[in-house]
Amino acid sequence: MLLHIPNVLTQDQVAYCRERLASASWADGRITAGYQSGKAKDNEQLPENDPVAIELGALIRNALKTNDNYFSAALPRVVYPPLFNRYRGGQAFGFHVDNAIRYDRSGQLVQPVRTDLSVTLFLAAPEDYDGGELIIEDTYGVQKIKLPAGDMVLYPGTSLHRVTPVTRGERLASFFWIQSMVRDDGDRRLLFELDLSIRRLTQSTPDHPSLVQLTGVYHNLLRRWAEV
Ligand code: NI
Repeated sequence: MLLHIPNVLTQDQVAYCRERLASASWADGRITAGYQSGKAKDNEQLPENDPVAIELGALIRNALKTNDNYFSAALPRVVYPPLFNRYRGGQAFGFHVDNAIRYDRSGQLVQPVRTDLSVTLFLAAPEDYDGGELIIEDTYGVQKIKLPAGDMVLYPGTSLHRVTPVTRGERLASFFWIQSMVRDDGDRRLLFELDLSIRRLTQSTPDHPSLVQLTGVYHNLLRRWAEV
């Protein structure tokens, strides 16, 4: 499942991130690439233990704490500390699949993360750069993603994806991975849809007698499928 989550950051938070990132110590993006993706990758990235990356990563994770759609869709168990990248002057990232297991080198996480879900949080306004679309090949076909600053896309870590060349301006983004309590994308999707319908019913018909039963079904499925 691919999900667009709008307004994860406020415009003030986006402006703050951009200001901090403008004077940050960018490095070659191949520092975190695997052998194969290293050949396809041409961008800049903040080192994992860079203080700006750690500070802004905490800001993003904090913002996500109150985002119901994110929690419901991802059912996060372990979140990789957010990383930051920048593309400009024709830089791009060719087709690749992200490494299945990631080891955090910033010292914030002790355990490895299985990358069930990938996240891109856009930090540059789409009108400020040309190109830089995130292309995701999913079972429904090819998805082209370029979102407003502050919005994010959540997509299965199993997807083949790439970033098209940035031919004007610069594309700034945060990206990270999530190990979900529910490993299977299809199971996670069912839970998300069930939760969404329960939330809608709670809004429209709060006294409906089946709500308690439906909520029970949700939790019993979660109990069956979740690893915590
Ligand atoms: Ni990737």
